[in-house]
Amino acid sequence: MCGIVGYVGRSQAAPILLDGLGKLEYRGYDSAGVAVYDGGAKKLSVHKAKGRLQVLSDMLDAGAAVPGTVGVGHTRWATHGAPSDVNSHPQVSRSGKIAVVHNGIIENYAELKAFLQGEGVSFVSETDTEVVAQLVEYFVDTGGVGLLEAVGRCLRRIEGAYALGIISADEPDRIIAVRKDSPLILGYGQDGMFLASDVTAIIRYTREVTYMDDGEAAVLTRDGIQCYNTFMQPIEKEIAHVDWEIGAAEKGGYEHFMFKEIMEQPEALRHAIFPRIREGEVYFENFSLTDDYIRGLKKIYIVACGSAYHAGVVGKYNLERLLRLPVEVSLASEFRYMDPIVDGGTLVVVISQSGETLDSMAALREARRLGAKVLSIVNVVGSSIARESDEVLYTWAGPEIAVATTKGYSTQLAVLVLLGLYMGRVLGTVSGRERAEAAAELLALPEKLEKVLEQRDGIQYLASQYFNHNSIFFIGRNVDYALGLEGSLKLKEISYIHSEAYASGELKHGTISLIEEGTLVIALGTYEKLFDKAMSNVVEVKSRGADVLALTTGDRRADMEKIANGVMTIPSTHPLLLPSLGVAPLQLFAYYVALMRGCDIDKPRNLAKSVTVE
Ligand code: F6R
Repeated sequence: MCGIVGYVGRSQAAPILLDGLGKLEYRGYDSAGVAVYDGGAKKLSVHKAKGRLQVLSDMLDAGAAVPGTVGVGHTRWATHGAPSDVNSHPQVSRSGKIAVVHNGIIENYAELKAFLQGEGVSFVSETDTEVVAQLVEYFVDTGGVGLLEAVGRCLRRIEGAYALGIISADEPDRIIAVRKDSPLILGYGQDGMFLASDVTAIIRYTREVTYMDDGEAAVLTRDGIQCYNTFMQPIEKEIAHVDWEIGAAEKGGYEHFMFKEIMEQPEALRHAIFPRIREGEVYFENFSLTDDYIRGLKKIYIVACGSAYHAGVVGKYNLERLLRLPVEVSLASEFRYMDPIVDGGTLVVVISQSGETLDSMAALREARRLGAKVLSIVNVVGSSIARESDEVLYTWAGPEIAVATTKGYSTQLAVLVLLGLYMGRVLGTVSGRERAEAAAELLALPEKLEKVLEQRDGIQYLASQYFNHNSIFFIGRNVDYALGLEGSLKLKEISYIHSEAYASGELKHGTISLIEEGTLVIALGTYEKLFDKAMSNVVEVKSRGADVLALTTGDRRADMEKIANGVMTIPSTHPLLLPSLGVAPLQLFAYYVALMRGCDIDKPRNLAKSVTVE
């Protein structure tokens, strides 16, 4: 969703802002803009354009045409008011002296707008953000106060979620940053200070960052940053070092980030798994959930959105099997309003790649309010969900840029298995031998996945046979059903083909009426225990005229080939890890189908990478 960049320093600001916005494009946006203080003209120069960032960049000669060393930039994902030049950010106050970039939603903007209109303030855009710019100016003018005090007064009036970057022509040496429920980080560079929605935007310039917490404000000047708490009292914040490689957030010769990230999965799994296995046992460094606490648990509740939720569905099957504890899995957007049965005896596991998904964050807070401890499985270090959880297991997959998650999901699966083995030892539900076998398979997983990825040409061929279908069903049982949910989402979100996933046994309760001559059914049959049932379902849909593309293990290829039109395989592995291998052919299939249909793979229509609104 919206991306924010700010810079105050000794270099020309606009090229830095545009470069940073380029790194945030992956979040999803429909327009872009920058505001820079022009010291010669002694005013803000504001430039905005609907559409791709390239339009703005061309307009500004990649920023070279805009003088000034202090500025803010923004990529907008429309919420209030259609995508247009006027609704793009920065939004400015009526005098043109104050410019604001905003990520989030000001919920009481209509009421505040009416108040300001009553005071004679006129508005030019339909955005909630313009209210902030006008309100800050209102407090400067009527209160005779400086920018920081005016922003403080504004914060006491606005409700909702926001990360804000604010500059003023009257105080041109500074940027004011504030955050509540939307991510914002501060960066300390050699020749200036930075502000950004995430690290990717500024990693070229600095690796020293501070993660702002909710309710905090900061004043950035070219020589340093002063942070403030909710009461606007100065506070000291920790500076963290980011150790990603710069290239990790770039395409590195691949045509698409999604393909690069699919291919990076073996390495991402090595990072997620290897440091956590010692002599056949799972080990979590500085893990704060004590053995006594784990032994006292009555239930586990997994909460997440989208693909992370699908990882949670696999997690439910695996954790119940390992722990013999009830595991519920819920969509975060439902959990927060369903009055869930959660208490101190429940461990709530929140899964999120970005660590910023608003629904997951709200579910986390609800779980903690109800007395549960929250363990989060998160990729982005220092993200909001990670920081508000009682304990975090990072997935260490590195930056994920493509909107459709791949390595984020597969590392979530691996961490859930690690968690199950760890808790299974504490609870005594998984024997030493079983743990050692599963741990050995976890260590072998990256190499096996490499073998699966080597089959990509065959999968590309299969995609070429089916890319023009308009409706595709995924069927499977148990973990194969959970895997089907993810395979179907991957396909529909990037190729725009209508697709649904069904538990195979449910077909005959209604959906089978949709199967007709030529319908493509992707039948998942990797789980050996239920392989015969998977075969029966293939026969069932074939006899109604479906084309069947099957996914199974190498050992079962010959059986499947007797009836399916095409077969993809994965190496045999521990049943806990089947979806970790099985997802790769489905990701590749979705990728090649979308490629053949000419879709914008890394930025599918209407989607944002990090969903920070409800
Ligand atoms: C699908 C996808 C989304 C995310 C979902 C949750 O490919 O990426 O469904 O999984 O928006 O995002 P996170 O994991 O960042 O909370």
